[in-house]
Amino acid sequence: MLSDYFPSVGGQRAPDAELGATLRDFVAQQQGPISAHLRHRHTQTNEIGRCVALWPVLAHIAQESGGAALALLDVGSSAGLNLGVDAYTLCYHCGGASVHVGGAPRTDCRCCVASCVGSAARSMGCANLPVAGALSHRLGLDPMPVDVRDTDATRWLQACVWPCDLVRQQRLALALELARQHGWQVKQTGPSCIEAIHAWLDGLPSAVQPVVLNSWVLCYFSEQERARHEQAMIDLVRQRGVVWVSAETPSLRPTDMALPATPPHDSKGATLWCQVSHHAGEVRQRALAWSHPHGAWLQWLG
Ligand SMILES: C[S@@+](CC[C@H](N)C(=O)[O-])C[C@H]1O[C@@H](n2cnc3c(N)ncnc32)[C@H](O)[C@@H]1O
Repeated sequence: MLSDYFPSVGGQRAPDAELGATLRDFVAQQQGPISAHLRHRHTQTNEIGRCVALWPVLAHIAQESGGAALALLDVGSSAGLNLGVDAYTLCYHCGGASVHVGGAPRTDCRCCVASCVGSAARSMGCANLPVAGALSHRLGLDPMPVDVRDTDATRWLQACVWPCDLVRQQRLALALELARQHGWQVKQTGPSCIEAIHAWLDGLPSAVQPVVLNSWVLCYFSEQERARHEQAMIDLVRQRGVVWVSAETPSLRPTDMALPATPPHDSKGATLWCQVSHHAGEVRQRALAWSHPHGAWLQWLG
């Protein structure tokens, strides 16, 4: 059976000479449902491992904003699981050396990070990680959101995780359960989220610092859509005091931002965390961190 090869459903068999024929038989038997999935579904993922970088990024923004409460808008939020950044336990390890995330730059230090769900307590191996200001408002926007109460949709989300990666599978299941309890709100938008971002900003109290995030979203945009999104975000930074955080592959960084030195280890698929904000009458673009795409390590640059 094909499932024998899939650890995500209990399989333990390593790929061998029979795999090809088993796959062919499976596809022949399941042609109807497979065709329907191919016609109607898109790859859909929501990776809370990214919170290992998101949390220090928010801490950094809170610090720069004088400790203001933060309002987080996650554009392309999928099921909205990263809205729960302050509900996860983040564990930072670094081979005995202390890691200064958000403090003095330590570009020489590789920080191996694991994030786990299940406790509101934070266990920080990282002594200098500043505490982020309170997250007073949070909202996700997505043209194709995943409703965490929809079993069919969440099964598809789980099916899109690499079947050999049981750690991510289990973490996702726990995060979905937590999201059902918390009810973090995700709104469905049209193909562009810009109008909805304006509406969200209109409803915020003036004392909070709005942060608009996109993580692993811009690869879904055409070149033109990406240029429009970037311009709209820079306008929001300039005119409405938004801090824009863009966490994407380096080629999708904000156009005018210089590329920092790539991490010496494991740079394949690395995520570049960029901050665009308004300082002393100018729009400033900075690279804050590199991270593994699923949060297995973090290299702070900020
Ligand atoms: C790879 S997932 C990333 C989800 C989440 N940001 C994360 O880091 O886990 C990409 C998300 O972008 C959304 N998306 C696709 N086109 C979009 C658009 N035009 N505007 C906003 N989101 C979009 C998809 O529906 C999907 O939820």
